[in-house]
Amino acid sequence: MSEKEPMKRIGILTGGGDCPGLNAVIRGVAKPAINDFGIEIIGIEDGFEGFVEGRMRILDSSAVSGILNVGGTILGTTNRGDPFHYPITKPNGEVAITDSSKQVAYNYEKWNLDALIAIGGDGTMHISKKLMEMGLNIIGVPKTIDNDLDGTDVTFGFATARAIATEAVDRLHTTASSHHRVMVLEVMGRYAGWIALESGIAGGGDIILIPELPFNWQAVYDKVWDRSRKGKQFSILVVAEGTHAQGEDLTVREMDKSRTDAKQLGGIGRYVADQITENTGLETRVTILGHLQRGGSPNAFDRLLATRFGTQAAKLLQERKFGRMVALRGKEIIDIPIEDAIKKLKTVPKDSQMIQSARSVGTSFGQLE
Ligand code: F6P
Repeated sequence: MSEKEPMKRIGILTGGGDCPGLNAVIRGVAKPAINDFGIEIIGIEDGFEGFVEGRMRILDSSAVSGILNVGGTILGTTNRGDPFHYPITKPNGEVAITDSSKQVAYNYEKWNLDALIAIGGDGTMHISKKLMEMGLNIIGVPKTIDNDLDGTDVTFGFATARAIATEAVDRLHTTASSHHRVMVLEVMGRYAGWIALESGIAGGGDIILIPELPFNWQAVYDKVWDRSRKGKQFSILVVAEGTHAQGEDLTVREMDKSRTDAKQLGGIGRYVADQITENTGLETRVTILGHLQRGGSPNAFDRLLATRFGTQAAKLLQERKFGRMVALRGKEIIDIPIEDAIKKLKTVPKDSQMIQSARSVGTSFGQLE
């Protein structure tokens, strides 16, 4: 494709874990691309896995209609499709990790793509950067419920996950107070504590444990006891899956080497609940919110953000601004180099105003005074 030639065909894929708002982005890109710019859209199935395996279908106007409020992704996705770390199952059942990136470049040429819209989190943006170095034209759109992608104030999907987790905290409050119990809610977020922090504050959790502030066991027991002594006969803990006690390791549910990051987190909620029961004698229950945080319809904030991200990505296509990722900065949608978004994970700053505000209303982060 020369500089002056109009764009004819682009690919679009969703990579990594799904999240509410993916379909709203697909619609936001495809509608203006098809209707205003006359571009044909190739929907690549199951993220980079489908790119390696050559699986795609054409998305016409009717395919992207009626999907704004639909959760998940009409294209499918996977966490196991990194072309540079591609798992191939051998006849003996063993999984071998290979570099299948040339297959992606091959299909890009074969399908006559002028560019690719990659909708994903930090894993997808890392892959995109490497594929750009191989000559592919890519525009990134940041998604993840974890909100850990740098360069954008927020990713779409996070607001919906936060709302679901907040509702869970609310619901746990009534049953905890009725039974005078300690309730532990484990939420997602990988190595970032955004979901736990913000749903914990919004739901009025008593103790919030996040990866950025490794906690002290005694401080947790003291807070629960202190509430009990003051006549509050229940406590709510919101625990991020990626948190850990001081001097201890992360709680890993499973190792899966077919993923770029083999660690699958999970289990810290149960561990915290058991330790509280053992060390305070108080009755404790645990809820693991899991994929409820990712499933279902996006809320209004995420529909808006996803639509704005999608339409801005379509504009960048038309302007041939490749290697860029759309991002929210304040109230504006801007674009930044993809590489700027992946220099580091965006975690909760230890001195964040949000943490200070929570402390001011008596929330503990499991730290000794
Ligand atoms: O990155 C999104 C996320 O939901 C994390 O919060 C969580 O650790 C992980 O994905 C779960 O992955 P899976 O859906 O493969 O179990």
